[in-house]
Amino acid sequence: MSDTDSTSRWNARYLERPNRLFQPETYLVEKLALFRAGSVMDVACGDGRNAIYLAQQGYNVTGVDFSIEGLNRLKGFASEAGVTIHTKVLNVDNASQFSQLGRYDNAIFVHFKPSVQTFAAVSELLRPHGVLCMTSFNTAHRISSPNFPAAFCHEEGEFLNRTQCLELVEYVSYQDTCGKFDGYIFRKCADY
Ligand SMILES: C[S@@+](CC[C@H](N)C(=O)[O-])C[C@H]1O[C@@H](n2cnc3c(N)ncnc32)[C@H](O)[C@@H]1O
Repeated sequence: MSDTDSTSRWNARYLERPNRLFQPETYLVEKLALFRAGSVMDVACGDGRNAIYLAQQGYNVTGVDFSIEGLNRLKGFASEAGVTIHTKVLNVDNASQFSQLGRYDNAIFVHFKPSVQTFAAVSELLRPHGVLCMTSFNTAHRISSPNFPAAFCHEEGEFLNRTQCLELVEYVSYQDTCGKFDGYIFRKCADY
């Protein structure tokens, strides 16, 4: 599927969604105590369930996504919640663009599996001791949902030892009401 097709598909999905904000991701909520105070980059933020939750917890949040309709919904929900989220329309597969987005105390990938290059680029923009929280479906999810695309699923341990600038805090496979997931927490090493 081309980037244009993929963007259009996500825009259509957001236009069809009921006008309500989903709950933030439970794994993120459970791991929030590990985050550094300050800013968060929400990569592929969608319509903002996690970005808005983080802003309500006092974080300065920037959300990037290629779906304008998703970001429009995010802005509406943020306004209703009385929080401000910085947004940018971005195809996150173009990893070189991240170097222009500044530096962050934390970053999240939720229900989105980054490319090798995007994972590395987002790791780069973390400040020393910054936290990266990532969770998405894993390959075991396809046993019960065989039509779910393999490209969106984490292979077992796929993001372990990807970059020397991150120290692993936690790697866990788990199941919730949506399916089977792999979750990772990394901390940026002090000397990067
Ligand atoms: C399953 S949703 C997850 C949204 C959000 N992280 C959440 O947990 O609710 C995946 C999101 O990734 C976005 N996305 C997919 N590919 C992308 C890309 N190459 N660049 C930017 N956003 C992308 C979609 O527009 C969609 O908002």
